[in-house]
Amino acid sequence: MFDLAIIGGGPGGYVAAGRAGAAGLSVVLFEKKDLGGVCLNEGCIPTKTLLYSAKVFDYANHADQYGIQVEGAAVDFAKIFKRKEKVVKKLVGGVKAQMKAAGVEVVHGAALILGRDAEGISIACEDATFKARNLLICTGSEAVVPPFPGLKEAADVIVTNREILALETQPAELVIIGGGVIGMEFASFFNSIGTHVTVVEMLPKILGPMDGQISEKLQAVYAKRGVDFCLRCKVTAIEGDTVVYEDPEGKTCRVRGDKILVSVGRRANLQGYGLENLGVECVCNPAGRPVGIKVDEKMRTNIPGVFAAGDVTGFSMLAHTASREGEVAVNTILGREDRMRYNAIPGVVYTNPEVAGVGLTPEEASRKGIDCTVLELPMAYAGRFVAENERGEGLCKVVVGKKYQEVLGVHMMGNPCSEMIHAACMAIEQEMTVSQLKEVVFPHPTVSEILKETLFTLK
Ligand code: NAI
Repeated sequence: MFDLAIIGGGPGGYVAAGRAGAAGLSVVLFEKKDLGGVCLNEGCIPTKTLLYSAKVFDYANHADQYGIQVEGAAVDFAKIFKRKEKVVKKLVGGVKAQMKAAGVEVVHGAALILGRDAEGISIACEDATFKARNLLICTGSEAVVPPFPGLKEAADVIVTNREILALETQPAELVIIGGGVIGMEFASFFNSIGTHVTVVEMLPKILGPMDGQISEKLQAVYAKRGVDFCLRCKVTAIEGDTVVYEDPEGKTCRVRGDKILVSVGRRANLQGYGLENLGVECVCNPAGRPVGIKVDEKMRTNIPGVFAAGDVTGFSMLAHTASREGEVAVNTILGREDRMRYNAIPGVVYTNPEVAGVGLTPEEASRKGIDCTVLELPMAYAGRFVAENERGEGLCKVVVGKKYQEVLGVHMMGNPCSEMIHAACMAIEQEMTVSQLKEVVFPHPTVSEILKETLFTLK
């Protein structure tokens, strides 16, 4: 009998397993593929490794702007992808070591929930049955591939975030369906290494709910670098290597690619591991289709002793949300006071320049009827940014509540905002006001000073 069984070894599952093991719980973790889940094996880590190679190439190509002559910089596609494999392998090994150090029993195989009785929950895996007092479900999500007419016939051209990471040759032409986070990160990578990229997006803007002005600026940066954007364009079919879409005037258009990346969102994994044997309740979309396991703020499902964390809740599909949700579940099991809050979850897009945001955008604040002031300053107000970003674009925006002058949201474009946004997360999490945040001393010279500088524009 284990104190806790966890299904899924991604950033929800393995972080929870590590925390629970360290707190003295006996833990069994089931993983049918590789430890680390989508994030480590076919998501966050491999893409950031590729994007860093692209960044190095970008630096080499623009080195003369910094007084450095570089000749003959070239892309070695196979080597870039081989390095990505090495990084992933090293980090998967790291997770394995963490599990060992925390005393977690890792079982490699597909787990099947059999049911629950007075003693606990029974799970079958690899011809054995395991029993646990608590269960945490962290089975993640998978890429949505809509049933476009002609999809089957185009199987050798269509890729998702998974297959694109296993390409052996560089496509000359890449069409990306969906200008969300995955679409834009791959657009960035392939554009940098010389592939011609077309992004077909059905909404009027890229990057979905991210700040409108910043999304527009990022789009302009990439348009200038040669990426073609077809906005308000809905894909209707695939014809061989060609994407068929309807433009805003209702005209049928076509664009061909050596590869076609489908990045139109992800769906929670809710089937194939016996959820129905427990009667776990799901949240449904307006059409009545289950989209995620229903949880409360302590990550409890409707079944006592059964918790869920990460993409499987269908709510905030981000690795760092999953890890925090896993921690909340473990703390609840341990009887520690904790609850999940979503108002200070950062979102980062690792393009070059990077984009990062946390809290309310001006658009969201106005939708919610919150009276706010939007402060903004170009990144060039930070000396370090100017020193390190020749001709670099950047912007910092702070959304401030009018009544209490509390920080409600921070949105940035410019490197390295992925490494600065947590300061804003802390301010929002701690409900800091502009005057309280102004009193914090930021190191000089750093790009992060832009956050403080922007606050001083409040009249
Ligand atoms: P997404 O939801 O971010 O974007 C999908 C886009 O596809 C939307 O803009 C949507 O309007 C568009 N779309 C849908 N159907 C379409 C059609 N028929 N024709 C044209 N456009 C269409 O989803 P994405 O990029 O696949 O990412 C999935 C999840 O993974 C997200 O939750 C994201 O947050 C997460 N993720 C996070 C990353 C990060 O934090 N850096 C990196 C990669 C993924």
